[in-house]
Amino acid sequence: MKNLLLSLLVLASFSIWMTSCGGGQSKIDEIKANSIKTPADPMADWQSNHGVGPIKAFELPESVDQALVTTGQGVYNAKCTACHKIDKKFIGPSPKGILSRRTPAWTMNMILNPEEMVQKDPIAKQLLIDANGSPMANQSLTQEEARAILEYFRTL
Ligand code: HEC
Repeated sequence: MKNLLLSLLVLASFSIWMTSCGGGQSKIDEIKANSIKTPADPMADWQSNHGVGPIKAFELPESVDQALVTTGQGVYNAKCTACHKIDKKFIGPSPKGILSRRTPAWTMNMILNPEEMVQKDPIAKQLLIDANGSPMANQSLTQEEARAILEYFRTL
C-alpha cells in the first residue's frame, strides 16, 4: 500500500514536471500565434521602429558622455551579464553594435518593457522565437539607468 502511494506520487510529480517543462516547440507556437503578426522580415524597417513602452523616439547627441558610460557599464555588469555577453551570443544576443540594428528608443523600451515588447513589437517577438522562447528579464531599471546602459552600448 505504501509502495503504491509512493509510486502514484512519483507519477504525479513526473507529469507535473513534464507539463511545466514542456516548453520548446509548443512555447514557440504560442508566441507565433499571439496578438500580432510577424512581418516577413521584422528587422527590415528597424530604423523606423521605436518599440513599445515609456520611451518615445529620440536622437542621441553626437558626442558620447563618458560619465554616463561609466554609470551604464556598472549597471550592466550588475544586472545584465547573467544573460548577455559582449563578445558572443549567450542566453540573449550580444549588445555589441546594437545601435546599427536598433533605434535608441527601441533599445531602451526593450530594457524597460520587455514583456509588452515581445507581445507587440515584431522585432522583439522574432528575438524571443530565436531564443527558443526564453524571455528577456525585466530588471526594473529606472529610465536613467536604461539611458546610461544605452550610452555604454554606444562604446562597444
Ligand atoms: C534572464 C536573462 C536576461 C537578463 C537578466 C537580461 N536579458 Fe536582455 N535579453 C534576454 C533574452 C533571452 C533576449 C532575447 C529576446 C527575448 O528572448 O525576449 C534579450 C534581449 C535583449 C535586448 C535586445 C537585443 C537585440 O539584439 O535586439 C537588449 C537590448 C537587452 N536584452 C538588454 C538587456 C539589458 C540592458 C539587461 C540588464 C538590465 C538585460 N538585457 C538583462 C535575456 C536577458
